[in-house]
Amino acid sequence: MDRRERGHRVFAAIYDLQTRPLEKGWLGERRARLLRDLEGEVLEIGAGTGANLPHYRAASRVVVSEPDPAMRRRLADRVEQAAVPVEVRQDTADSLPDPDGRFDAAVYTLVLCTVPDPNRALAEAFRVLKPNGRLVVLEHVRGSGRLAVWQDRLDPLWSRVGAGCHPNRDTRAAIERAGFALEHFEAFQPMPRWVLTSPMIEAVATRAG
Ligand SMILES: C[S@@+](CC[C@H](N)C(=O)[O-])C[C@H]1O[C@@H](n2cnc3c(N)ncnc32)[C@H](O)[C@@H]1O
Repeated sequence: MDRRERGHRVFAAIYDLQTRPLEKGWLGERRARLLRDLEGEVLEIGAGTGANLPHYRAASRVVVSEPDPAMRRRLADRVEQAAVPVEVRQDTADSLPDPDGRFDAAVYTLVLCTVPDPNRALAEAFRVLKPNGRLVVLEHVRGSGRLAVWQDRLDPLWSRVGAGCHPNRDTRAAIERAGFALEHFEAFQPMPRWVLTSPMIEAVATRAG
């Protein structure tokens, strides 16, 4: 069995344990605030173990996609915790099976750091969103100064131990390049500055019609 079939089993096994303290604090609060009012059909890419599922309240349906089988097993176990109907799929961010303009919102949390090509992923989000559909993003990003230098230096090692995660992506620039109009943007630093993944952004953007 190769890595694709097996998935990142260790990463999946420790993911919730690692993030639990954060979910009880700033991370869970931000997920809830960003997701609870999303309406209509929502697409979530790279849903991992399903940490966002308990936070959807107003959506008519949430389609969650997760290509890693080890993560997807945990995601499937969490579907019952959702207050809205959920469909689990296994598509990758760069190639979605949906027709143009299907979704009212697309959600990416802690995933644009990991997809092989964020530009391609965001182009797919743009394609499958309705005109004026919403893009919701919560990601760690490239910092500045010495932190950015260290993010670049440690990126090869970090991505190897972190299941493909890159600490040095300029995600705000990628969102704008894809043609989205930012309607809400916040950069914040919830961890000490020396932590490679400490610079974070929260963004809500519109797919212009
Ligand atoms: C750090 S986890 C974040 C999980 C979840 N979104 C969260 O907020 O907790 C990154 C996820 O992205 C998924 N992923 C990696 N490459 C992907 C791709 N090409 N398309 C979609 N998801 C991908 C991984 O399998 C993993 O579940």
